[in-house]
Amino acid sequence: MASIEGRATAEASPNIAFIKYWGKRDEKLILPQNSSLSMTLSSTTLKTTTSVVASNKINEDTFYINGKKLEMSDPEVRERLKAIGIMRELSGTTARVLAVSSNNFPSSSGLASSASGTAALVYALNAAFGLDLKPKELSMIARQGSGSACRSMMGGIVSWRKGSRNDGSDSYAVQEFSEKYWGEVIDLIAITSHEKKKIPSRAGMKQTVETNPFFTQRKTSAEKRLREVREAYRQKDLDALASLIMADSNEMHALMLSTVPSIRYLDSSSLKIMDAIEELNASEGGNIAGYTFDAGPNAHIITLKKYERKISSMLADIKGLEALEFKSSAQGSGPKLLTGVSLINEERLAPA
Ligand code: DP6
Repeated sequence: MASIEGRATAEASPNIAFIKYWGKRDEKLILPQNSSLSMTLSSTTLKTTTSVVASNKINEDTFYINGKKLEMSDPEVRERLKAIGIMRELSGTTARVLAVSSNNFPSSSGLASSASGTAALVYALNAAFGLDLKPKELSMIARQGSGSACRSMMGGIVSWRKGSRNDGSDSYAVQEFSEKYWGEVIDLIAITSHEKKKIPSRAGMKQTVETNPFFTQRKTSAEKRLREVREAYRQKDLDALASLIMADSNEMHALMLSTVPSIRYLDSSSLKIMDAIEELNASEGGNIAGYTFDAGPNAHIITLKKYERKISSMLADIKGLEALEFKSSAQGSGPKLLTGVSLINEERLAPA
């Protein structure tokens, strides 16, 4: 087998789903029960930067995240880093990988670091292994580390086509709209909690698929709503878009609630924010913002840049939201390679 000595640094951002992925049809390959759609966030606000070296001189795969070395014997870590083995095989080499990764946001804030982390790793490995794979192929590799990560492989508005084949070859991400198509759309993230998730999404969605009596209808409702979201976005119809986004978040959280045992990620602050956004929309005579929540209590408010100040000051006035902090994110353009930057100390082959 050929030996190799490749280096690269890449950055990628999380995404926020407008149509949620919650449930797998294949746990090994990470194939979803329904298609989903998201907006890639801007690296100015949220990003993971990952440097990799792929070399035959390295003895074993090693991964540092925010200064902490991951335990490669942990089966969950191995599953999340599956991309390393997949890409090594594609490269036709036996090179081992050293990866050093860092987030520009605290992972404790529950802001989808697994999506940006996996996307940055896959993007950097593509260059370090000299593979030159296209975003669609990279999305299929990222998907196998963490499902939602496949949607961070492109910028703007991205859908993850669920596919129907058993080998996953038709389950990948597609860019629906570039970040420039309707660039005024932002995600105003209202952080009210830094607590760790009570139940990881992987275990939670498995529980939902296995026990939830309402799950079968989700498969059809999500596909239909995804088509409606695409159309609302195409027409730049904020009223319709916000209404669909809120409906899909509520449907996913209702499914979680009706899972046995029940899964609840929303807390009293989340509910206060939902009330406030609905009241605001009613007073405007149409929706100017839509809330959406992933597997955690922090609200993502999808709106236009021009409404940001109005919404943040309205939320700041709500009683009982003392810990409220905001992060505002425009749409991002997807992963990119960084030249002349490395998080790795090349002489010691360890974090710089
Ligand atoms: C609620 O992609 O983290 O954020 O595939 O098991 O790694 P795994 O799950 P993950 O789940 C994300 C769930 C969600 C909804 C979404 O982003 O679509």
